[in-house]
Amino acid sequence: MGYPPAMNPTPDFDLDAVRRRIPILATHVPMNACSQAPQSEPAREAAEAYLTSWATAGMDWDRWMAEVDAARAEFAALVGGAPGDVAVATSVSQATASIASGLDFTGRRFRVVVSGAEFPTVSHVWLAQERFGAEVVTVPTRNGTVTLQAYEEAVTDRTLVVSAALAWYQNGAVQDVGAIAEVAHRQGALLYVDAYQALGSRPFDAPSSGADFVASGNLKFLMGIPGIAFVWVRPDLASKLHPAVTGWFGRREPFAFDAGRLDWADGARRLDLGTPPILEAYVARAGMAWLREIGLDAVGAWTGALGAHLAERAAELGLEILEPVDPARRTPTTAFACADGHAVEEALRRRGIIASARGPAVRLAPHFYNTLDDVDRAVEALAEVLA
Ligand SMILES: Cc1ncc(COP(=O)(O)O)c(C=O)c1O
Repeated sequence: MGYPPAMNPTPDFDLDAVRRRIPILATHVPMNACSQAPQSEPAREAAEAYLTSWATAGMDWDRWMAEVDAARAEFAALVGGAPGDVAVATSVSQATASIASGLDFTGRRFRVVVSGAEFPTVSHVWLAQERFGAEVVTVPTRNGTVTLQAYEEAVTDRTLVVSAALAWYQNGAVQDVGAIAEVAHRQGALLYVDAYQALGSRPFDAPSSGADFVASGNLKFLMGIPGIAFVWVRPDLASKLHPAVTGWFGRREPFAFDAGRLDWADGARRLDLGTPPILEAYVARAGMAWLREIGLDAVGAWTGALGAHLAERAAELGLEILEPVDPARRTPTTAFACADGHAVEEALRRRGIIASARGPAVRLAPHFYNTLDDVDRAVEALAEVLA
């Protein structure tokens, strides 16, 4: 059914041109941006550029390192920061572990307040710090989110760091980073934000968000592949970190090959580890650059319209959206309860719809390349499968 023609929202960019650059749209309706974005021509061309460089030059470290730095700069631009405030990692798990290894849990402040909306890997990293003196306090979710009051009750003057995802992977629920930062900073604690489930689907400005660390990988809304992640660090904070999880690329002069000296690189670069993910950097940069070229405001407006349309169609078909139901409180990711998410994902795939299961739920996550018609097809197929 959808919107009457006069009310039909339209994207503020050339959607047909975007769609022509994503081959899988010819045969499928990808609705799994919360899990793995589809392959795009820019991503493929970037991967091929690396393969060509490797095949023809044999080895081109200067160019490859420049590509890694270009990807770093692209992420920095995406979150409104400076390249020197961004570290390159291989996963969010590794980025978080590196940060945690630079914190001291043996003083007056030793508690880590972890939101119940974290992806498990982030909680696991914090829990692993308990052997170094940390005490993890988990703030439970209620009705699909974590209340500000719950943070206020959990954060004290013993809290060293608060860990709060920008959006919850299970249902797309967006947390108010600014408000959580206020709670954390009022007590003198730091705020770590895993932005993986939201970055690329809407604008996000790290320096003005209140967060002290903002981490993300690239294979979801950022249109990239596994094997690379980035973390933005508040500029004045980075130089105070001396992470025990380190490597030669975290040095001021990695190519001095001085095994006897731990010279810390300036800024967030000190969180870099070993030989960086080069092929992944090529692809990550291409995905992020494409999004920035289209404009995150325009992307966010369109994903918002798709998310709202999805919620409306689901309600018309009597499907039950997991809390929060209000699309304004979520990314475009929309979760539906079902007995066996995996079986539903398989049944949808047989109908040409790519969804993403998470235990007893299935998620539909449209992105900027989807149409309102894609959303209708996906929701109608889901209603058929669940019936
Ligand atoms: C919010 C969030 N954080 C972290 C991860 C995993 O991070 P990584 O595999 O890069 O460690 C995921 C999913 O893969 C996620 O959805």
